Formats: sequence, structure tokens, C-alpha cells
Amino acid sequence: MSRLDSFIRRLEAQRRILDWAAAAIDGRGGHVLELGLGNGRTYDHLREILPGRMIHAFDRQAKANPRSMPSDDMLVLGDMERTLPAFVERHGRDAALIHVDATTGVPERDRIHLAWLPGHVAALAQDDALIVSGSALEHPELTAVALPDGVPEGRYFAYRRMAAPG
Ligand SMILES: C[S@@+](CC[C@H](N)C(=O)[O-])C[C@H]1O[C@@H](n2cnc3c(N)ncnc32)[C@H](O)[C@@H]1O
Repeated sequence: MSRLDSFIRRLEAQRRILDWAAAAIDGRGGHVLELGLGNGRTYDHLREILPGRMIHAFDRQAKANPRSMPSDDMLVLGDMERTLPAFVERHGRDAALIHVDATTGVPERDRIHLAWLPGHVAALAQDDALIVSGSALEHPELTAVALPDGVPEGRYFAYRRMAAPG
């Protein structure tokens, strides 16, 4: 498969899984978090399908298309290794939906540079929160769940955060 085909399939899978995730959290309170604002494409889609919902977006720098730029109070800039724990301290473990899209597209590189990410995601997520991710997240508190129809295994990943003991 050419890289163009692969890119198109990745975008289709992203749209499908975000639509599915948004429907799954309907009526449920809690933050929606976009980890990896980038160009702002998936952030823009999330805000379209979750109207009225507060969506915080994270990235090292604000480089999104101006049409997809979150307001200052919804944008958290800096290295997520540091900004995610600070967000938990401020808001608690309250995310209902987390979209993780911090990948560089090179899994071997991600495994090293983003080794801390699964633990930070688990620390943000409320019990039974839904986490959808472009890369696999291995953490004892994150349980893999079946993907929606049309999203091939391995192209995207979905997890529920297990209830904290006690
Ligand atoms: C694949 S892009 C995101 C694409 C975006 N969701 C979109 O649809 O346009 C990944 C983003 O994650 C960000 N990122 C990766 N590691 C990060 C880190 N440790 N802290 C903050 N941002 C990070 C990169 O700066 C990059 O913008």
C-alpha cells in the first residue's frame, strides 16, 4: 500500500472512531481532551461533533490552522510529559474522552519518546472513560475494547479506563 493510501485510511479510521467515541460519551460529564493538536484537524472534528462541550487541546506549540485554533483558555502549550500531570493537579481525574494523537508516525520512535504517555493518560481519565489513540497504549488500568465497524485492527486503538480500587 502506498503511503498516500495508508494516510487516507488513517484519516478515515480517525473520523469513524471519533464519531463513535463522541456518541459513546453522550450524556456523560467530564472533560474531552485532544492530546496532539497539530494542524487541528481532529480537534476541529471533535468540536463539530461535540457542540457545546469544552475541549482542551495540548501541544508543544500552537501551530494549528487558524480556523482550528482553540481559544487561549482551552489550549495547553508545552511538553505533555509536564503539562498533563499539571492538568490533573488542577482539574482532577475527570476526562470522559481522551483522543491521543501524538504519534510521529514512526512506532519505534514513539515507543521511546512517549513511554510515559500511557501512565499520564490513565491518570487523566475518569473511571470507565473512553480513550482512543493512534498508537497502542499499554497500561494496567487501560483495557482494550473492540473497535467500531470499519476501523481495521492496528490502525487505531480504543480503551476503557478501569475503575480505581476502593
Ligand atoms: C500527528 S500530530 C497531531 C495531528 C492532529 N491531531 C491533527 O489532526 O491535525 C502530533 C502532534 O503531537 C505533538 N506532540 C508530540 N509529542 C508531544 C509532547 N511530548 N508534548 C506536546 N506535544 C507533543 C506534536 O507537536 C504534533 O503536533
